Formats: sequence, structure tokens, C-alpha cells
Amino acid sequence: MSLRLGLNIDHIATLRQGRYARDPQSILVEPGPVEAALEAERAGADGITAHLREDRRHIQDHDVFQLKERLTTKLNFEMGNAPEIVEIALQLIPHDVCLVPENRNEITTEGGLDCVTHRVALESTIGQLHDAGIIVSLFIDPDPEQIRTAAELSAEFIELHTGTFAGATGETRRAELQRLVEGARIAHQLGLRINAGHGLNYSNTRELFAVPHLVELNIGHAIISRALRVGLVAAVSEMKALCEEYPAA
Ligand code: PXP
Repeated sequence: MSLRLGLNIDHIATLRQGRYARDPQSILVEPGPVEAALEAERAGADGITAHLREDRRHIQDHDVFQLKERLTTKLNFEMGNAPEIVEIALQLIPHDVCLVPENRNEITTEGGLDCVTHRVALESTIGQLHDAGIIVSLFIDPDPEQIRTAAELSAEFIELHTGTFAGATGETRRAELQRLVEGARIAHQLGLRINAGHGLNYSNTRELFAVPHLVELNIGHAIISRALRVGLVAAVSEMKALCEEYPAA
């Protein structure tokens, strides 16, 4: 099976909130993240990711419930491990949940989840999500200890944080890529399935194909940025075509 593409639609909601956060009932409200998600599915996206942050800075509660109802692929619900959001996940029952670290002052998710430090709290949340039939992914750095802990916590997936690789140059970049390769090997041996995301774009994604065993890439900013120039359908189709170059296992 070819590498799957998940589109992160948070940035579309950011644009909407920039104008309509105080007047969500306005008849002018746009752009709609749900409509964009449906268009992206028609263009070949294999799933849609939305992050309901505690501060509700972009995606809103009604967005995720509409996505759940209207998507024909799957909803990957990205969330921090906060009781209020866990409660929403248990009402929503998305196809999968990706647990991420969340810090109110960050512009976007920074770094992977520390599942070694937060093991006890994660154990309880993962248990609740599993009991509800939700597949769990942990967004972590390619660190062997984090990967082993993710396996011990019975997560089905990890999402390898590619942001450090994407933002690095020269020797650091080669070392980061190697860390991702090694991390994917360890995760695969432990029976974990492997996604990757953060900072991926039309030029660095092919380089990431050195990482084995990838199931899905989650990409937001680069696709939405490109969509401003070529439209969402073309932006998604181009990235999907790139994903199809990923070497078969
Ligand atoms: N995966 C995770 C877990 C993320 O938090 C994000 C950013 O919200 C992404 C993927 C997508 O990152 P980008 O917008 O840089 O493509």
C-alpha cells in the first residue's frame, strides 16, 4: 500500500478565526475548514487531521463534530492530554487520536510528547480511548526511550516528529534523518505502526523517504500555503503524487 497523506486543516480555521472569532454567527463566515477537508478528500487526501486546542485558537468544537459526520475518509483528532479534551474525544469517537504536547504560548506544536515523564497520565487516557474503540498515536521524537515507552503504553501508532529534521541544515540535518531512520526501525521491531509529520513540504518530503515503514504523513502548513497559489485540489494532488513515490516495503 502506498504512503497515505493526511491533511492538517488547522490553518484554514486560523484564517477564519482571524476575522470571525468574535462573530461566529455572521453569514459571511469563511473559510470553512470542513468544506476544505471535503475538497481535499476529493483531491486524494487519505485522511484529515484537526487539532482541538484547549485555547480554541483555530479549530472549534463544532468543526470536529461536523468533520466526524461528513468525512468519507477518516478523522485524526489531534489533542493534548487534558481532561476536557479527552471528554470531547470520548463523545466524538474519531477514527484515531494523536496525542501531542500542548503549550499555550507556542505557535505550533513544538517537539514531541514526553511519554516517559507523562507515562501515568497517558496510560489512563490511552486506556479510556482504547475502551471507546479509538486507535491511538503518540507524537514523539525519534528517541529510543520514547519509542519503547510508546510500545509499552500499547499505542498502535507513533507519529515521528519531523520538525527538527525539516528545520536543520548540513550535518545536523543528516544526523536528524538518521535518527528518524533508526527510530522507525526500532518502532517497527516493537510492532508499532509509524506515521510522520511536522514541517514537511514539497522539497523535503522526498528526502524523508529514506525512513522505512512509514504508513502516513500528516502535513498542514506547506499544503495550505501552496493552495493559496494553485488551489487546494492541485496542492493536495501534488503532495499525494509525491507520496506515491515512497518505496514499497
Ligand atoms: N503532525 C502533528 C502532530 C502536528 O502537531 C502538526 C502541526 O499541527 C503537523 C503534523 C503538521 O505540521 P505542518 O503544519 O508543519 O505540516
